Amino acid sequence: MTSIWAATAGPEPGPTKTLDRDVTTDVLVIGGGMAGMLCAYMLTQAGCPCVVAEAKRVGSGVTQNTTAKVTAQHGLIYDQIIKREGTEKARRYYEANQAAVEGLRELARAVPCDFEDRTAYVYAEGTPENLERELSAYERLGIPHQVISEAPVPVANRGALGMEGQAQFNPLKLLYGLMPAVDVYEHAFVTGVDGNTAHTDHGSITADHVVFATHYPLVNIPGLYFMKLHQERSYALALQGVPPVDGMYIGEGGGFSFRTYQDYLLIGGGGHRTGQGPTPDEGYAKIRRFVGQTYEQPAERYAWATQDCMSLDKMPYIGVHRAANPRWYVATGFSKWGMTGSFVAAQAIADLILRGESAVEDLFSPRRSMLHPSLFSNLGVSAVDLVKPGKRCSHMGCSLAHNDVEDSWDCPCHGSRFDEAGNVLDGPATKPIDVGDAGKHAGGRTGQVGRRGRRAGPCGWRHAAPGRGPAQASRRLARRRTVLPPTPSLSPW
Ligand SMILES: Cc1cc2nc3c(=O)[nH]c(=O)nc-3n(C[C@H](O)[C@H](O)[C@H](O)COP(=O)(O)OP(=O)(O)OC[C@H]3O[C@@H](n4cnc5c(N)ncnc54)[C@H](O)[C@@H]3O)c2cc1C
Ligand code: FES
Repeated sequence: MTSIWAATAGPEPGPTKTLDRDVTTDVLVIGGGMAGMLCAYMLTQAGCPCVVAEAKRVGSGVTQNTTAKVTAQHGLIYDQIIKREGTEKARRYYEANQAAVEGLRELARAVPCDFEDRTAYVYAEGTPENLERELSAYERLGIPHQVISEAPVPVANRGALGMEGQAQFNPLKLLYGLMPAVDVYEHAFVTGVDGNTAHTDHGSITADHVVFATHYPLVNIPGLYFMKLHQERSYALALQGVPPVDGMYIGEGGGFSFRTYQDYLLIGGGGHRTGQGPTPDEGYAKIRRFVGQTYEQPAERYAWATQDCMSLDKMPYIGVHRAANPRWYVATGFSKWGMTGSFVAAQAIADLILRGESAVEDLFSPRRSMLHPSLFSNLGVSAVDLVKPGKRCSHMGCSLAHNDVEDSWDCPCHGSRFDEAGNVLDGPATKPIDVGDAGKHAGGRTGQVGRRGRRAGPCGWRHAAPGRGPAQASRRLARRRTVLPPTPSLSPW
């Protein structure tokens, strides 16, 4: 499966230099995705000697399979942050992410990457009460917004809350454009970090500062990242021959997401906790069923899937990896909003390295309280899957589930994935598993996966909770409309 970004970013850049000796530098960034490349670029621009060690090719991780909305609208997060942390922290979260939108807009002037201004919308699938609460949060924080009584997407909805001044782009074009300005070693898989030296099979890199930008942190037991993170997987299609949407849309209860790229319509959805699905009628099938029921002659051009690290409170972990090693830094837990999150992380870690402080250090500190309901669901999943019989994950030994849709063995505990031969597809695992003969007979395990797929779990994506009084709530939302958008043109649906 190829993502639209991999297919359209132009020719892959020529090979970078490979590591064939021991190297010393000021800063080592491990991981050449959005977070690592932006961080290395910022440090290099500031005159700080810095190298990136990337296991495969630049951008080949989650970043090449994202949907690449550049927005500070991270679902319905502002009402949650205000309730949990207060207005001031919510304001700082918005300002940091909106500054990232502006930072990426600025960068896109130098590195062409199809950056286009768009309003980002969350639409109400059930009652709009959650949207109403989020609208109150926007008003309190002074976030420029629009409310529309019906989102122009082919899903029944009760209005949408739009955040203005947002954007979309092609993330691989940006990363490929940054490559000439960054010192990168590709095919440099870091097997371990010992103090300030990272080891690969072809040489080591010793640095004063080490940045873990490997998506799931390479070192994750110290720092308790294995308790703080789980992974959620979702699916996307790029279609031609269907009406476009004006703006970027996402359902508030995990409903389909929509955006355009050139003459393609991108639809995302079908999400679940990694290792807890999909059943054969979920994932791609769920989106394809919707597409078949909605459009007359859709032409599916690209299909892809990926997963992101979800933090306990849906805010990323950015900063010093753990107190015991103040020169190790981490950027993770973007909770499906890592385009702006990566920029925030890159800036914050560059500030910590160059100036010894960052304005958002406390906000995103990896050492902030872990007391959150998600901690208990993470621990619950691990407790069950550690004792469950079955094929064992090479990370911490949880029982793997077979993913019949993607022919992989997926771990519900922290989201590692392995192909049919047992090779690692996604971390945190770094070692293969022994699949034995069973690995060749995935078909026989469908029932087992089906049971997992239906298991009650912490995955909130598929279940939009119905609320009370939809009609009344809809009217309340409509009464509070602040800026009327242009009347949507004749809906194609
Ligand atoms: C379906 C989906 C849709 C999304 N859509 C959006 C969106 O619209 N907007 C948004 O803001 N965010 C979105 N996100 C989130 C966003 O895509 C991610 O948060 C972001 O791409 C993560 O970037 P990263 O650099 O942390 O990780 P990656 O891009 O995965 O980069 C990590 C790199 O580290 C390398 N690596 C790993 N281990 C090692 C090692 N041991 N040694 C050396 N290198 C190593 C990997 O090869 C990889 O290239 C989405 C996520 C998903 C799952
Ligand atoms: S990913 Fe941690 S035990 Fe499998």
